[in-house]
Amino acid sequence: MKSLAIKTFEEYQERYAQSVADPSAFWGEIAETFQWEKSWDKVLEWNFQEPKVQWFKGGQLNITTNALDRHLEHNANKIAFYWEPNDPSTEARSYTYAQLHTAVCRFANALKVKGIKKGDRICIYMPMIPELAIAVLACARIGAVHSVVFAGFSANALADRIVDAEATMVITSDGLNRGAKSMALKEIVDEAITTCPSITNVIVYNCLGWECNMVSGRDSWWHDAIAHQPEHCTPELMDVEDPLFILYTSGSTGKPKGVVHTCGGYMVYTAYTFQNVYQYEADDIYWCTADIGWITGHSYIVYGPLLSGATSVLFEGIPTYPYAGRFWQIVEKYKVTQFLTAPTAIRSLMAHGTEHLKPYDLSSLKILGTVGEPINEEAWQWYYKEVGKEQCAIVDNWWQTETGGIMISGIGTLSPLKPTFAGYPLPGIQPVLLNQEGREIEEPNVEGYLCIKAPWPSILRTTYGDHERCRVTYFSHYDGYYFTGDGAKRDENGMYRIIGRIDDVINVSGHRFGTAEIENAINANEHVIESAVVGYPHPVKGQSIYAFVVGEELPEDELAARHSIVETVSKEIGKIAVPEKIMFVTGLPKTRSGKIMRRILRKVAEGETGSLGDTSTLLDPGIVDEIILKSNTI
Ligand code: WT7
Repeated sequence: MKSLAIKTFEEYQERYAQSVADPSAFWGEIAETFQWEKSWDKVLEWNFQEPKVQWFKGGQLNITTNALDRHLEHNANKIAFYWEPNDPSTEARSYTYAQLHTAVCRFANALKVKGIKKGDRICIYMPMIPELAIAVLACARIGAVHSVVFAGFSANALADRIVDAEATMVITSDGLNRGAKSMALKEIVDEAITTCPSITNVIVYNCLGWECNMVSGRDSWWHDAIAHQPEHCTPELMDVEDPLFILYTSGSTGKPKGVVHTCGGYMVYTAYTFQNVYQYEADDIYWCTADIGWITGHSYIVYGPLLSGATSVLFEGIPTYPYAGRFWQIVEKYKVTQFLTAPTAIRSLMAHGTEHLKPYDLSSLKILGTVGEPINEEAWQWYYKEVGKEQCAIVDNWWQTETGGIMISGIGTLSPLKPTFAGYPLPGIQPVLLNQEGREIEEPNVEGYLCIKAPWPSILRTTYGDHERCRVTYFSHYDGYYFTGDGAKRDENGMYRIIGRIDDVINVSGHRFGTAEIENAINANEHVIESAVVGYPHPVKGQSIYAFVVGEELPEDELAARHSIVETVSKEIGKIAVPEKIMFVTGLPKTRSGKIMRRILRKVAEGETGSLGDTSTLLDPGIVDEIILKSNTI
């Protein structure tokens, strides 16, 4: 297999220039390194008005042929995944490419026996165990569209996603252990699907040996489903633009949307970016600590690394369980060479102190990645000095669920380091900064709206079941541009620094929520009339959620009322979306036209009540005084 990696910074600059001058020639050459059943007729056809983007049009392939079968000739016995359990006393497991191939084929055959066909949607709600990756790949093998839901979302959130995708099957496990906590996943699935008539099958992996209520005719155990299944499964022939998966993500409107990625472009782009950003070499051991329930796990645990024939670590647990040195113990154990985690994890480990690093040999590390939210200077320096011992490159990967792959980043050890700057656009990516009027900002060090001018192979194709929503959300703000929702700056050398969201999206520990989504959840509480939610800076989580809540009257027992709201949000979305602070108020600051003045609430949440600006246009300025007074007691 030919490596797609650029070898010098000059080569990056040359390749970048080529990719902009002639995208079709550039991507056509890269795409040729993959296995296609039928080659494409045309590399690129697009417009951002509908929008409609087609890459490698007319091509046919199966992504799993490229991620698995392709490696069997020379690398059948190479480890694809080392699996490290949540609890260090549980036995670790590993899969070679040959073993993974067999496991995927057997499970794919089991899916077929259950009547699953190309195009069917399958919801996957599982712990971070090898079977999660196997389930994902088995869907891709037979052309079923996977929709992985992070196993931390509640029954209601799971049900919403199943209903939206009209999924016919759920793949889950009895339960999961994450750190010291556990969750009964099958029970949550049972509760969710009481409102999901499309579900006719549930497959349950026996992860913890827990008893489960199995509904006859609907539910089956994973081990029973794969028993007697053959070890070969002919890959389904997919059109390059057939959907590969749906992944739900939050935006500034209430309901999460199903971002749709397709087979060919996603394959080419995730492999290309993985090999370039992580400069993966044959004997390297790569570890990304994300969960496969998020896009990072899809692109940089499952597809990108496997397409590249890489060896990865798959970790079930969390950074601090059962001790704060767990990450570093795993780095030492597997001699990890490339490590990718989130700023929130870095900050949390930084807070635990450097003594937890000391016992471990981290000298195998070459490249340290950070992803999911802006990294602050202090965390960057700690990562660089304490983890990397000033010997590793830091690559800050900026991208989104919608972009499918890394867009702006350092390029392995090739590009210069600049703390808190994500870096350069990868080849094929044409970012621009727009001002309020939608004009491109040319001068350096000016903040603007980050947009992308031309398509790249893994750009989202639609939002499931509602193409208009895709157009309005991403392609209507500025005509002819993909709108990211982020603000950014570019320095005199063309390096980008991501400032953060400019829309109503809150990023808590790298998890994305819409303010409206959380407000809807809070409003589901029977005592709540209305609410407003804002994000505010948090030393570990990046941002935290502050909720201003209006009930019929102020609660007598605030503690109980708060508890009740926490319960409601946990039920509607999941514990990950619970507000850190809740203030009960008699009203919200609104303009005369009834619009909530979030600017004011944000200031209050940030503790800057002295600089609220002009409040004279408010319907009831007295509300602000009430809120300021109360803010000292929250
Ligand atoms: C949003 C996308 C990227 C996969 C995981 C999150 C923020 C992401 C960075 C970064 C600054 C970042 C942006 C983006 N974000 N990476 N390196 N530096 N901000 O994917 O859930 O789709 O969220 O996360 O605000 O828009 P996501």
